[in-house]
Amino acid sequence: MRICGVGDNVVDRYFNQKLMFPGGNAVNFAVHAQRSGMQAAYIGVIGTDSDGDLIRSSLQAEGVELKRLRVKEGPNAFATVHMDNDGNNRVWGLCEKGVSIFQLDGADLEYLEGFDLAHTGETSRLDSQIPAIRERVAISFDFSDRSLDYAADVLPHVKVAAFSRSGATDDEVKRVLDFAVSAGVELVTVTQGAKGATVCHKGNVLFAPAVPVDAVDTLGAGDAFLSRLVCRVLTGAPLREAASDGAQYAAHICGTRGAFGHARPVTREIPA
Ligand SMILES: Nc1ncnc2c1ncn2[C@@H]1O[C@H](COP(=O)(O)OP(=O)(O)OP(=O)(O)O)[C@@H](O)[C@H]1O
Ligand SMILES: [Mg+2]
Repeated sequence: MRICGVGDNVVDRYFNQKLMFPGGNAVNFAVHAQRSGMQAAYIGVIGTDSDGDLIRSSLQAEGVELKRLRVKEGPNAFATVHMDNDGNNRVWGLCEKGVSIFQLDGADLEYLEGFDLAHTGETSRLDSQIPAIRERVAISFDFSDRSLDYAADVLPHVKVAAFSRSGATDDEVKRVLDFAVSAGVELVTVTQGAKGATVCHKGNVLFAPAVPVDAVDTLGAGDAFLSRLVCRVLTGAPLREAASDGAQYAAHICGTRGAFGHARPVTREIPA
């Protein structure tokens, strides 16, 4: 099956560790899909600096197809992460979108017709093109911690919807699930950090507890969980098996630094 990550990429700069890593919701989803046995691709825009090179070379190393990757004169997107060495107290510093924000053109949309699923999310800022994408391919969308008011316009167009609701009560989780299901979404995930995630596929709801791990960095755990779960469901695995595989894989990602590895040292002074 073919899966395409569409939208954002970013270089995560770990200020205290003086390391940087490739990331971004659409990139992470594509990488994890490729690692989950899919043929994955990524559409997005990288800059002409060394950060752009890091995104491209890591995606190439992971085997992700880059036929529609754009390079635009200017700085790549970056995010600064302040974190202690055991992965606690993650605080975001200076973040810039660089050249990463773009709109899909006709050739991109045509290219998407060759996929089984396209994944994007609120950080990719492609909301106005969601109906056009939906005409070509089924959509998975990560709403992160955005409100249901925000989600209301997008939900009717998507097959998969992901929500981040760390610390939410059972009632809040149910409200999110019900809202997405009544909009016609087939597969809904409500991730709840180190507790686990509630997932719903075609009316079948279950809770997937997190798998205990010595977490060094939980960044990107949600993307890992979602991508592995979605890939397993698409290829016909029972929901319980797919969700438990997702939790296992997310725990593995919590045990490694960066969204999916590929550390590169930061050699110059970076702004906080
Ligand atoms: N500390 C942890 N230990 C083990 N597994 C974890 C831990 N944190 C997260 N996970 C796993 O990753 C999944 C998704 O995590 P989380 O809720 O943090 O993602 P998220 O909602 O995308 O968060 P965010 O986008 O804010 O990073 C959880 O359901 C769980 O399976
Ligand atoms: Mg997330």
